[in-house]
Amino acid sequence: MGKIFVDACKGLETPYTPVWMMRQAGRYLPEYMAVRTSAGNFLNLCHDPKKAAEITIQPLDIVGVDAAILFSDILVIPNEMGMNLEFIKGFGPKFNNPIKTQGDLDRLIGGDEAASKLTYVFETIKILKKQLNQRDDNIALIGFAGAPWTLATYMIEGQGTKTYNLCKKMMYSNPDLLHNILSKVTEVVKLYMEKQIEAGIDVVQIFDSWASAIELENYDEFSWKYMIEISDYLKSKYPDIPIIMFPKGVAPFIASSKVYGNFDVFGIDWGTSMKMAKEKLGDKYVLQGNMEPCRLYDKKRTTQSVEDIQKIMKTKRHIFNLGHGILPDIPVENAIHFVKECKRVSKK
Ligand code: CP3
Repeated sequence: MGKIFVDACKGLETPYTPVWMMRQAGRYLPEYMAVRTSAGNFLNLCHDPKKAAEITIQPLDIVGVDAAILFSDILVIPNEMGMNLEFIKGFGPKFNNPIKTQGDLDRLIGGDEAASKLTYVFETIKILKKQLNQRDDNIALIGFAGAPWTLATYMIEGQGTKTYNLCKKMMYSNPDLLHNILSKVTEVVKLYMEKQIEAGIDVVQIFDSWASAIELENYDEFSWKYMIEISDYLKSKYPDIPIIMFPKGVAPFIASSKVYGNFDVFGIDWGTSMKMAKEKLGDKYVLQGNMEPCRLYDKKRTTQSVEDIQKIMKTKRHIFNLGHGILPDIPVENAIHFVKECKRVSKK
């Protein structure tokens, strides 16, 4: 038997349904806040392998999850491509020179040169591998990257956006430039994930957090096909490393039967019906998810949701998770309760 989380990703039988939470290492944990304060700011944390490894491990002991997710951020890629990333307090990520023209894109570093600059991430993975091997709990290590589309939204808008005006303007009036951006980012993500695997991660997750900004008819052209280009590349070299795709807010895509590709797990967001997802995708992919993260404010509502999801998935081809990241003001004991309940209801 392998690690329970890796086995579940491969669709193998497991003693219970494994569980982890997106953003499980973060601000709801006082222990995280203490390390962040000692580092000065969030980006310093990402650049400090010892501290990043320490934070990655925290939720294992505090919350009891079955997998650790590498502590970093999706935006380290555009940062290393030459876009100067800042995290502004109370505002979020910011790039001062967003991409407007082909010339702006040409000035960015691409390919192996960019991927090779992320040494601090590979160093973090190596530290984590050692630390995880010393534990006897068989915890898997998840590596990740942002989907090219989600990364491009920050590179074009320069910050988070509600309307995606600049991206959409480019999509409809200069699609060639958008495709050039997406291709250049795809190349870096491929090599970055390959280097994460070489450093020792067990599973890959691709976050397409802003998938729902694209209309159904265009989703494949501007996002999914690039995600599949990444998974095809990784599968051709590392067939045993499971790949999780998490496009957020894509119920119409799932319902349309247009999902294709060689990967293992489909992450279901909280707005999508697990029952529908199971009908459409359950035979082909293991499903991950999908409790609405705000249910964590209330323990009873948490239990109810975990039981409902369990009734649909029946401890088969399933990984428990939230349907998006945990919020900073969730009581730690409620997160612990969620993990306990997932294990309780699915124990065979
Ligand atoms: O899941 C984990 O525990 C691993 C670490 C992780 C972080 N970011 C740490 C983080 C992961 C996997 C991410 C991915 C990420 N980053 C995504 C995709 C996932 C998703 O939630 O949809 C996105 C869109 C980002 C970009 C990003 N990073 C934003 C918009 C912000 C600001 C958000 C905010 O609430 O201020 C971040 C910062 C960030 N990334 C924090 C953490 C723990 C908070 C930093 C802090 O203030 O300490």
